[in-house]
Amino acid sequence: MNQVFNHRLKADLETLREAGTFKHLRHITTPMDAVVHMAEAGDAIVLSSNNYLGLADNPRVVEAGIDGLRRYGAGTASVRFICGTLDIHRRVEQRIAEFVGTENSLTYVSCWAANTGLIPTIAVQGTAIVSDELNHASIIDGARMATQAQRLRYKHADMADLEAKLAGLAPDMTKFIISDGVFSMKGDLAKLPEIVALAKRYNAVTIVDDSHGTGVTGRTGRGTIEHYGLTGQVDIITGTLGKALGGAAGGFVAGTDDLIETLIQKSRPQLFSNALPATVACSALAAIDELDAHPELLATQRENIAYFRAGLKRLGYKPLEGESAIIPIIVGETAFAIQMSDELLKRGVFVTGFGYPVVPEGTARIRVQMSAALTREHLDRALAAFNEVGKSLGII
Ligand SMILES: Cc1ncc(COP(=O)(O)O)c(C=O)c1O
Repeated sequence: MNQVFNHRLKADLETLREAGTFKHLRHITTPMDAVVHMAEAGDAIVLSSNNYLGLADNPRVVEAGIDGLRRYGAGTASVRFICGTLDIHRRVEQRIAEFVGTENSLTYVSCWAANTGLIPTIAVQGTAIVSDELNHASIIDGARMATQAQRLRYKHADMADLEAKLAGLAPDMTKFIISDGVFSMKGDLAKLPEIVALAKRYNAVTIVDDSHGTGVTGRTGRGTIEHYGLTGQVDIITGTLGKALGGAAGGFVAGTDDLIETLIQKSRPQLFSNALPATVACSALAAIDELDAHPELLATQRENIAYFRAGLKRLGYKPLEGESAIIPIIVGETAFAIQMSDELLKRGVFVTGFGYPVVPEGTARIRVQMSAALTREHLDRALAAFNEVGKSLGII
């Protein structure tokens, strides 16, 4: 090892430790569920996973993955266009397209890969990307990779700023408006009706990354677009299979047949990276079936959101307002958020503190995420821990 380089790494890590912002990995020894066992901390109620519907440990979803492993083996050992396309890819892609209301879809090994595969492929010379400033890092990085495109950021959810940015672009330019559907650090929903209206006015293409909405938001869990009654009116949807829909991994781009064909031909992760494992495709298919067969999962999850929000407010917390499963409590400094998360874990509640650079400096937060897997008893125990910790740290 190069000693100078290693010394620099050590010094950087020491800076994080001194600032109290060093992240410790916790090792879970059981499946993701309402309660997990952690090697470092014993049993804990999970309030920080994206397992919104509790499908990560659903027996049908797990069995479907095992069946996929038996039928297709461990993997394709190939990218899609060489010899890595299985019939199960076509099935899951058709099902995803049907689910979100587009002509077609294409899977990637993650939504990170989907966003960074999509954006530079379509945002070429003569195009512009107009992106919400709080969009997910994979959108930001995807836009950075689109080196030939003009790149603009509008203030978070500020439609006047979005319009000003669109109005400043040449009329004949292809413009892409990109937004998260549900913003991961605030839990608010994108103002899609206004975004779609502006896109029509300025002849722009809309792209919504609905990773936190897919499977959870909207009357039947079809996502933020369904929530607003805009099915069919957003041009391109990206999303993950790694949250509500089984939680394993995998992402997708959904849109027209021509878009999907373009991505198959040109998108670099499609050309140079392995296909989605069959196990994940099979589990995701089963997860969508479970969601459709059990609307009570969505109902439970929504009741849990309302119950926990109300409980936090009763204790004196002021979570950011919103209707999604993401309930953030702003606490200020990163070290404080980490300390609060540690104190909650000592009381058997696993909820993560997020700080700079994930969120702006001074706005560190505890991010609660609500799952249908949680029972009232879990929620009451968690609220009791929030009460104790909030009082001992003097924030309620
Ligand atoms: C909005 C958004 N897009 C993309 C991703 C990345 O998804 P994946 O884990 O499938 O790469 C996430 C995950 O945190 C997300 O919240």
